[in-house]
Amino acid sequence: MSSIPIEQAAGLIRAGRLVAFPTETVYGLGANALDAAAVERIFEAKGRPKSSPLIVHVASIEMARDLALEWPERAEILARAFWPGPLTLVVRKRADIPAMVTAGLDTVGLRMPAHPMALELLRATGLPIAAPSANRFTELSPVTAGHVRASLGDRVDMVLDGGSSTVGIESTVLSVVDERCVLLRPGVVSAADIEAFVGIVERAANPQDGGGAHQSPGQHRRHYRPRKPLFLVDPDGPLPTGQGAYLWRSTVRKALQAIHMPDNAVEYAARLYGTLHELDHRDVDWVAVERVPDDAEWEAVADRLRRAASEIDPPNTI
Ligand code: TXA
Ligand code: MG
Repeated sequence: MSSIPIEQAAGLIRAGRLVAFPTETVYGLGANALDAAAVERIFEAKGRPKSSPLIVHVASIEMARDLALEWPERAEILARAFWPGPLTLVVRKRADIPAMVTAGLDTVGLRMPAHPMALELLRATGLPIAAPSANRFTELSPVTAGHVRASLGDRVDMVLDGGSSTVGIESTVLSVVDERCVLLRPGVVSAADIEAFVGIVERAANPQDGGGAHQSPGQHRRHYRPRKPLFLVDPDGPLPTGQGAYLWRSTVRKALQAIHMPDNAVEYAARLYGTLHELDHRDVDWVAVERVPDDAEWEAVADRLRRAASEIDPPNTI
């Protein structure tokens, strides 16, 4: 049984309008994936370049199979293992998925999200829903309905509020075309988790630049940036002068505002964007983040921190 807001949201999606909805990773800005004009509104609302393909959300494995031109055995195995959940599978696309969705590529990224409200919306519309993160281009992804409203305001027709996203960072993106598995964006479903089911996972040569068939276009470095300059620092490295916050994990130190982050990658991911959003509104000039370990477990968090980090060196370090 669907609630009134879900019915209203489904009506808007069917009418070609935009609905922001919660997923377990981050909030998505959704439109009917089979309606090119509706999908174009997503790009306009976000201010996002049309060279960035969108992830298409589905209500079931069956719906994913139906949108794929080819559905490899590896896709079936991984979907059964990880869906609903934070794994996007890139497969060859069916011809009637508009080029607007996939930035002209002949592949499409598909994901069945785990948030109950996302699934209710997908079932109520009966349509695949194209949705990038529900933020203006280059801003930090939203993990609450409030973050969506603050970023998009009335550029979105409706925001479904499903509380805080529990995973907290965007899904793992894996290409399964051409008999290979290529990791295009790390996430909390790790390469090791995937390898346990389907063998070797290759890495995209340079996922940040996009371009080649296995690249993930739209993985701009600026994509995940908070408003306050963010610096990655060693526990004994210099901090910028002025008023700042220090996100520590293993070693606390004197900084105006020391914020304790979990020393566990999955828990850290769940807290990261919420913490950075909050710091955007606090009276601090900068955010320094204690580096995370350079190992497989921390790959996704390290990736997002690298992208969030300022390209300039901290000023007047002490
Ligand atoms: O967790 C998530 O994935 C969230 C929620 C809303 O599902 N969505 C999300 O979407 O992060 P977005 O648009 O911010 O990032 C999607 C990324 C693109 O930037 C691109 O790198 C990759 O997914 N992608 C999508 N379709 C692709 C394709 N056909 N080939 C290669 N990469 C693709
Ligand atoms: Mg995004």
